[in-house]
Amino acid sequence: MSPLTIALPKGRPFGATVAFLREVGLAGPELEADEGRSLFVECPEQATRFIIARDSDVPTYVEYGAADLGIVGKNVLMEAEPQVYELLDLGYSKCRFVLAAPASADPERLLDGRSTQRVATKYPRMTEAYFNSRGLQVETIFLHGSIEVAPKVGLADLIVDIVETGRTLRENNLAVVDELWTSSMRLIANRASYRLQAERIGPLIQGLRERIGLRDLSANQ
Ligand code: PRP
Repeated sequence: MSPLTIALPKGRPFGATVAFLREVGLAGPELEADEGRSLFVECPEQATRFIIARDSDVPTYVEYGAADLGIVGKNVLMEAEPQVYELLDLGYSKCRFVLAAPASADPERLLDGRSTQRVATKYPRMTEAYFNSRGLQVETIFLHGSIEVAPKVGLADLIVDIVETGRTLRENNLAVVDELWTSSMRLIANRASYRLQAERIGPLIQGLRERIGLRDLSANQ
């Protein structure tokens, strides 16, 4: 059986992703939960191998066929709109896209349309779509990370970012102005792999669906 290559995101969801892959029998002990420096890990017994990448690069590996499958947040997919199949909502690493402003600011005044506000974000496309839908023109400032510091230092008036626990917002004296969308981890597939490796990927998806279904049901007991 030729190995399936799966791209995984580094960072916060990595531990949960490794736990999930082990639980469903796709990864063995070679894939360590504490993200070493090795960026390519093979699990011969499971016939899988893993590319460990930056989250925003995961769809690229999958779209170009360097990986057959990928696990990545819906937030990344919404921004990048890659040409891949989104197969399953894996349900973990849930977070919210929010619009936030300094807790001391008056959000109604910031958004009254009288002046163009600057909005810092890692998600410029989604941010513009949101403000277009509200009929507001803003200046979007793209940052790669640490978005929450931008209002404090005068780089931006507002931010659009993802929030998981809310701690980063609180510790930077920001308050949620609006909730935009929700996100969780998704399983994605390269379009050609999905067809060419149907005999392997089909039963895998079915198995995962059943497990996820079971988990959801038991969570509601
Ligand atoms: C993400 C996000 C927020 C933070 C939210 O950043 O961009 O900054 O997590 O999490 P919280 O609500 O649990 O505090 P990440 O940790 O990925 O780092 P980054 O800012 O360098 O992108």
